[in-house]
Amino acid sequence: MLSREDNELLTRVEGGAPMGQALKRFWMIACRAEALQPGGDPVRVRLCGQNYVAFRATDGRVGLFDEACPHRGASLLLARNEDDALTCIFHGWKFDVSGRTVDAPTEPPDRRAAFCPKVPLRSHPVREAGTVVWAYLGEGSPPPFPDFEFNHLPDAQVFARVGYTHCNWLQGVEATIDSSHASVLHKSWVAQRSREWSSFEADSAPVYDTDVTHYGVRAAALRSHADGTTNVRVTEYMLPFYCFIPFEDPRNVIFPMPVDDEHTAQWYIFYRSQGPIADYMAQHDRRYPGDPNNFYQPQGTFENRWLQDRAKLTGHWTGMPGIIYEDFVVEESMGPIVDRSKEYLGSSDALILRIRHELLRLARSPAGPPPGVDYPAIRARNTMLPKDADWRTSLGYR
Ligand code: FES
Ligand SMILES: [Fe+2]
Repeated sequence: MLSREDNELLTRVEGGAPMGQALKRFWMIACRAEALQPGGDPVRVRLCGQNYVAFRATDGRVGLFDEACPHRGASLLLARNEDDALTCIFHGWKFDVSGRTVDAPTEPPDRRAAFCPKVPLRSHPVREAGTVVWAYLGEGSPPPFPDFEFNHLPDAQVFARVGYTHCNWLQGVEATIDSSHASVLHKSWVAQRSREWSSFEADSAPVYDTDVTHYGVRAAALRSHADGTTNVRVTEYMLPFYCFIPFEDPRNVIFPMPVDDEHTAQWYIFYRSQGPIADYMAQHDRRYPGDPNNFYQPQGTFENRWLQDRAKLTGHWTGMPGIIYEDFVVEESMGPIVDRSKEYLGSSDALILRIRHELLRLARSPAGPPPGVDYPAIRARNTMLPKDADWRTSLGYR
């Protein structure tokens, strides 16, 4: 349970809210790389309550600007994308992909050269990796790029999908790192899956064991099997929204990015360190067809009971058409910003409490990622150990 004040501090990201300012000190995902075609339509990116446009210049480079034209605020979503630049359709001011103003045809010709460099276009650093476009939206120079393992892989070994949910980003994070719900909410899908999932059925009350790392929290969910072995699922959480979920094949990260106070971009990135992933991508897209840039379509709402098919409830736990939708709908069903002063938490919520504590600290004294993070080494783990084995020692954490 949280005070209302702390809940506000944790959740609000718009209009200069402390948490929004803190989150912007980290690299965020703006869009899928494929969503931007050379010379193609600019794409709106909304993060922490601000609108941006991303575009791919004719030469293939990506630019990310504030959406409002610095002249008088026309949307650059409407801009022409040509000559490696965006040209605002209102008065023709032209901004090249590197963020320089290269023309302002409404100024007298003899003043343009002096005028253009003074135009306060806000252009933001971007990087393409892991099949997505990463952006740094904070002030000053960006922190080191988070070169997670999947950011190094060739495109054939990684794919990204995003669904936009109508709820606050922290609901996305808290559902993502909560291992205990997998045994309940997802039980009908678990039953169909491989051995990797059998532990969810074996024990619905995992014991959590958590360590604060210098970049976040590492949490082992320990589940007992009848044969005396223990399933250890290690979730890695890197502040503030990078969640590594313990599936081995393919590996899976879920990064809930704050669109604004009441909307979240739930990024799912799947990757195989050793080989192609096209088969899994096809399977995923059959389950979640439609736009890979927003696969949560149709979207659950109160009016459609979040897509639940109650006729299916006799044979299926939730009546939902996919495991990811199950997560989305419970997150949304709490309301846009859940009131955490009204919760009644149990022992399986230990990790959530730990993370809130770390996030409150971040909001109160904002700092970007700490130095010295070995990004490629951050991996979730899922393994079986003898009953009394120490998971930290067995998995090489100490
Ligand atoms: S508003 Fe964009 S050029 Fe005038
Ligand atoms: Fe889930």
